This record gives sequence, structure tokens and C-alpha cells, in this order.
Amino acid sequence: MKKVEAIIRTEKLEDLKDALVKNDLAKGMTVTQVLGYGNQKGFVEYVRGQKLHTTLLAKIKIEIVTVEERVSKLIEVIRETTQTGEVGDGKIFVLPVENVIRIRTGEEDADAI
Ligand SMILES: Nc1ncnc2c1ncn2[C@@H]1O[C@H](COP(=O)(O)OP(=O)(O)OP(=O)(O)O)[C@@H](O)[C@H]1O
Ligand SMILES: [Mg+2]
Repeated sequence: MKKVEAIIRTEKLEDLKDALVKNDLAKGMTVTQVLGYGNQKGFVEYVRGQKLHTTLLAKIKIEIVTVEERVSKLIEVIRETTQTGEVGDGKIFVLPVENVIRIRTGEEDADAI
């Protein structure tokens, strides 16, 4: 099993959620509001004419644990749905997952997803 973590633009969350449901790619997911920066650290923003150094930008992190066979399709749908082509589109991380346990039943592994 793998965990797919994607950091995406806030405004892409609804579209991504709809696409994941439509393609049956996420039986469950966790969404967190995060702050972060990528390669363009030191990003400069103008607020009321004032130059601000904004090194941490608001992003959304989604976490989906899924079976290995679904990971490539999941990545494809995330990219198709959230890519604008501009810097700051985000990043996808794929991590190994040792086990999953459904608290209610004690089911484990893929049965617990
Ligand atoms: N190496 C990293 N480790 C952890 N989080 C990261 C990393 N790179 C990016 N992020 C997260 O992803 C968000 C978006 O990153 P971003 O898309 O700007 O990456 P990038 O490498 O700068 O690519 P681009 O050049 O397309 O902007 C960041 O705000 C941060 O939350
Ligand atoms: Mg960047």
C-alpha cells in the first residue's frame, strides 16, 4: 500500500475531489490546510503598494492511502485536475504504508481501506 500526498492550490480542491469521486480513486481522503514554499522562496507580494516578502503560501494537502495498482492513475488524475502550468502548482509525494487498520472492525491492510 502507498500513501499519496499532494500539495495543491487551494482553489483546485473542489475540482480534484469531484474527479477523485468520479473515477472512484479515493475511498477516503484527508485534507489539511497547510503553509509552504517551493523553489521560488522569497516570493514577493504587493499589498496596498507595500512590498511584502511572503515565504509561506497557503496550500492544501490531500492524503490518500490506496493499493499500489491505483497509484499511477491517481497521479494522472491529480495532475490533469490541478495543473495550470504556472509555478506553484504543487507536488505529489508517494510513500510506503506498512499497514492500515479499521478501528471499528479490526480489518487490516487492503481490507481496511
Ligand atoms: N521539497 C518539498 N518538500 C516539502 N514540501 C514541498 C516541497 N516542494 C514543494 N513543497 C510544497 O508544495 C507547495 C508548492 O510547491 P511548488 O509547486 O511551488 O514547488 P516548486 O518545486 O517550486 O515547483 P514550481 O517551480 O512549479 O513552482 C509548497 O508551498 C510546499 O508546501
Ligand atoms: Mg514553486
